[in-house]
Amino acid sequence: MANRTCFSAFLLLLLPLEFIAVMGVTPPLPLPECRPIVAVDRDLVQFAFNLEFLEAEFFLFGALGIGLDDLAPSLALGGPPPVGGRKANLDPIIRRIIEEFAYQEIGHLRAITESVGGVPRPQLNISAGAFAAFFNRAMNTTLSPPFNPYANSLNYLLASYVIPYVGLVGYVGTIPNLVGRTNRELAASLRGVESGQDAVIRTLLYLRANETVMPYGVTVAGFTDRISEIRNRLGRCGMKDEGLIVPKQFGAENRTTSNILSADADSLSYSRTQAEILRIVYGTGNESRPGGFLPNGGSGRTAMRFLATRN
Ligand SMILES: *[C@@H]1O[C@H](CO)[C@@H](O)[C@H](O)[C@H]1NC(C)=O
Ligand SMILES: *[C@@H]1O[C@H](CO)[C@@H](O)[C@H](O)[C@H]1NC(C)=O
Ligand SMILES: *[C@@H]1O[C@H](CO)[C@@H](O)[C@H](O)[C@H]1NC(C)=O
Ligand SMILES: *[C@@H]1O[C@H](CO)[C@@H](O)[C@H](O)[C@H]1NC(C)=O
Ligand SMILES: *[C@@H]1O[C@H](CO)[C@@H](O)[C@H](O)[C@H]1NC(C)=O
Repeated sequence: MANRTCFSAFLLLLLPLEFIAVMGVTPPLPLPECRPIVAVDRDLVQFAFNLEFLEAEFFLFGALGIGLDDLAPSLALGGPPPVGGRKANLDPIIRRIIEEFAYQEIGHLRAITESVGGVPRPQLNISAGAFAAFFNRAMNTTLSPPFNPYANSLNYLLASYVIPYVGLVGYVGTIPNLVGRTNRELAASLRGVESGQDAVIRTLLYLRANETVMPYGVTVAGFTDRISEIRNRLGRCGMKDEGLIVPKQFGAENRTTSNILSADADSLSYSRTQAEILRIVYGTGNESRPGGFLPNGGSGRTAMRFLATRN
């Protein structure tokens, strides 16, 4: 009985997708849970702080072993220090790259603060355990030993695969909904650098795509597939995310299996709404139920609006 109910619910879930496929070019209005929210520019732009803080702290700790409180404490606006950040065991070139990304995130935080005002840094959980939990989810198993992002360069890059991409698709989703030209330009410039970071991380991983991640017996490409899959599942709004090696029908112009830039059939960036992003970084698939990297939920009015609907 329970099974039949589940199965019917499953069919209902499939229906809209079927519908889109049959209709071809113009998809019908997205499901309510996939529609963009209506909010003023300031709230939409400030939403980006959540991802920018997460990236800043993860990259700063990974490369240098210190965080925003050591380098630019005023930007945190009194928000609590992150939990669990550590200096990663990186080889020199990867460390240089991540260090540069880290400073770029500080610049982003400053630019957004100067343009629309800041919000306090949310509580962040960048502990090895928080990543291990995400990777267990992605692999649908309990990895043993637990996945440790700080253990070596390859693990750190795989962990990094998880985050800037979400920031990037968030900017892509936000820009069309901004009214002010200055805000649109700011978000577009931020997107540019996020997209660059994502491309570098994916390229570095692609070079090692066939390598087995020790001791798990799964290749780098295999991990990226599963991480992309779990993001799609948690986001609950369709396929907007692909691993590094794909079947040709998902490659650029259906002609290649490499997928260094994840994009749609016209090679345009995928976009995600704020709710989809929270579902992913909370790891709960529910924008009203915080957890994962943001255990107490996001900062700013947009994220807090979803929290307020909590029972
Ligand atoms: C951070 O995540 C780890 C692993 O899930 C968990 O044990 C710990 O309690 C979390 N800390 C906070 C402050 O959320
Ligand atoms: C996860 O694993 C369980 C048990 O091994 C299996 O029943 C389930 O279908 C898997 N889920 C996914 C999404 O692969
Ligand atoms: C991975 O292995 C496949 C099949 O052996 C090969 O075609 C491909 O070039 C390899 N890719 C990389 C990045 O080494
Ligand atoms: C690629 O294949 C898909 C179906 O898998 C098709 O819809 C699309 O038009 C193809 N694109 C090109 C450029 O041939
Ligand atoms: C999300 O969580 C809230 C609060 O726990 C709950 O009321 C709501 O039903 C959940 N939504 C989904 C789609 O599970």
